[in-house]
Amino acid sequence: MITDKNVLRGMDSLDDAGVYKLSDDLALIQTVDFFTPIVDDPYDFGQIAAANALSDVYAMGGKPLTAMNIVCFPTKKLDISLLQEILKGGIDKMKEAGVVLVGGHSVDDPELKYGLSVTGTIHPDKILATSGAKPGDKLILTKPLGTGILSTATKAGKTSKQTIARVTRSMAALNKLASELMQEVGAHACTDITGFGFLGHISQLAHNSKVGIKINNDSIPYFTEAEEFAMLGLLPGGLHRNREFYSRMVRFAETVPQFMQDILYDPQTSGGLLISLAPDAAERLLERLHKTGIKEATIVGEVVARPAGKILVS
Ligand code: CO
Ligand code: CO
Repeated sequence: MITDKNVLRGMDSLDDAGVYKLSDDLALIQTVDFFTPIVDDPYDFGQIAAANALSDVYAMGGKPLTAMNIVCFPTKKLDISLLQEILKGGIDKMKEAGVVLVGGHSVDDPELKYGLSVTGTIHPDKILATSGAKPGDKLILTKPLGTGILSTATKAGKTSKQTIARVTRSMAALNKLASELMQEVGAHACTDITGFGFLGHISQLAHNSKVGIKINNDSIPYFTEAEEFAMLGLLPGGLHRNREFYSRMVRFAETVPQFMQDILYDPQTSGGLLISLAPDAAERLLERLHKTGIKEATIVGEVVARPAGKILVS
């Protein structure tokens, strides 16, 4: 592996984005994310893909500045106006974030994919990594879970218009404000909940911070519609992979229903931030999040010293 003293977060650190130190008070953050459509509306898909790509910068406490489009498009199969709508959704989301689109690249591909590479900055001493959680910390989650299950149900044509609208709004919401507020109150660690699901990302936090974690099942915010589809067994493939991979780190109390276990392993797209911080800071942050409209934010658990690397859900 190539090592460089200026690489503050790299391939080996399992963090959300790469960080490269430019000077004592300035570091570069880089991240890339793209995927196939998870909603039918092209404009919405563009918004979600952009919010998702920007999220890794926010999770580290950084400020995204520029972005480049990544486009895979089947020119013979689909009308180009569809792509224009996707790109418009992406650009509008970047504008909202104060991020400038500076270029991009597209290829002809049998399967449509869209996303961004994002560049931002951060102070080298202020990087919020997954290694900073401390025993006694509270954990705040800022968005409800269940987007993977609901996307799967949507593909099967089983969700209502209202459900799709609710989930779309959540996935298209930037983690910008939550990121700024958590820095104001002084967070210890943060990550965003995406493909590995809540328990996957929590496991990484526990592992990297060498702590244990207790999750209060009753406080988990989730889309109630996901319960029904989970009970029908309508689960995304990634959910089973997450369970296989992370279950050795996780113990469930008998009172945790099966559908909640599914939701906790559900891969998320553009999920919320998971923030670890001291109890008094957690109370202050929660109040500010609720006041600024991030109403689903909840304290979902706490950090304990032992057993390190293990997650207890009860
Ligand atoms: Co991430
Ligand atoms: Co990512």
